[in-house]
Amino acid sequence: MNSSTPLIDAFGRKVTYLRLSVTDRCDFRCVYCMSEQMQFLPRSQVLSLEEMQTIAAVFVGLGVTKIRLTGGEPLVRKDCVSLVRGLSELEGLKEITLTTNGNQLAQLAKPLKEAGLGRINISLDSLNPEKFHAITRTGQLSQVLAGIDAAVDAGFDGTKLNAVIMKGRNDDEIIALAEYAVSKGVDITYIEEMPLGEGINHDRRESFMSSDEVRSRLRERFRLQAAFENSGGPARYYRIPDTQTRVGFISPHSCNFCHACNRVRLTAEGKLLLCLGNENAIDLKKLLRDPETTPQILADTIRNAVYYKPERHIFNVDEQVSIVRFMNMTGG
Ligand code: 5AD
Ligand code: SF4
Repeated sequence: MNSSTPLIDAFGRKVTYLRLSVTDRCDFRCVYCMSEQMQFLPRSQVLSLEEMQTIAAVFVGLGVTKIRLTGGEPLVRKDCVSLVRGLSELEGLKEITLTTNGNQLAQLAKPLKEAGLGRINISLDSLNPEKFHAITRTGQLSQVLAGIDAAVDAGFDGTKLNAVIMKGRNDDEIIALAEYAVSKGVDITYIEEMPLGEGINHDRRESFMSSDEVRSRLRERFRLQAAFENSGGPARYYRIPDTQTRVGFISPHSCNFCHACNRVRLTAEGKLLLCLGNENAIDLKKLLRDPETTPQILADTIRNAVYYKPERHIFNVDEQVSIVRFMNMTGG
């Protein structure tokens, strides 16, 4: 095997997609993601821009064609635009995407576009300022809506909203959120809440809402036509006829997409996670910071690790917490 042998696991799945968490920090404290008092990593434990660039180059050399920047909130890292610019120079990387809470997009959408960013997913769980503030604990709805407008104005195609639906919190806004997406000509994905993180002051057994239920509610207002295109990801898509909008559903509990999984994740502290629903991780930071480590050693380590990617994840809402990691550590 040489450094260009692609990443394939024991189940024959080819890994072509890296989700890179650039920071565990965030300017919001969403109830499903964080507790109010969070301990963040000391900066020395977080990969530097150069380290991220090095590791990304190795992954691209191993056949990764898409990198998504996640967090925490990627845009709280001042050098995020430079990272995008650096990544955009990697030959073989076809797409750089970003998942953001939108809070800083009003200022950053245009520079990100100029730096080579391809597409943006923006979290939006409510269109009601008070509810939005209650869910995010710190967020201002108007600022995020301005961010969404800025993304559209900057000329990004395929912009997508992500909404985590929780019973009793925002399930009365399922239709309003879709109408908003239609009015902006963007896509929307409804996400089932996943049992990640401990000490979150919020009972998931009370709030859990399945994608099937969300879809039924939407069908009271819209015609949903099953779309056959697939992003290679876990969402199932529908089109709303006569609009630009596609509606997706991510159902980690009720639908098993693991057999088609093409992704791995790198946490902000350089741990390679092979599956969102499993704890095992490989410490690439340690290797990166060892002067003896060559790009070939990194490539071999990653290739060997990917071979052992778990077959599937197991989430269970009845056990309040099955995975101790917080979502901000893994970037969704
Ligand atoms: N369950 C489902 N989605 C989550 N996100 C964060 N925490 C959770 C969770 N526990 C999603 C947010 C955002 C992205 C960063 O991750 O909605 O879109
Ligand atoms: Fe921040 Fe996103 Fe977590 Fe909300 S879901 S606290 S915006 S990282």
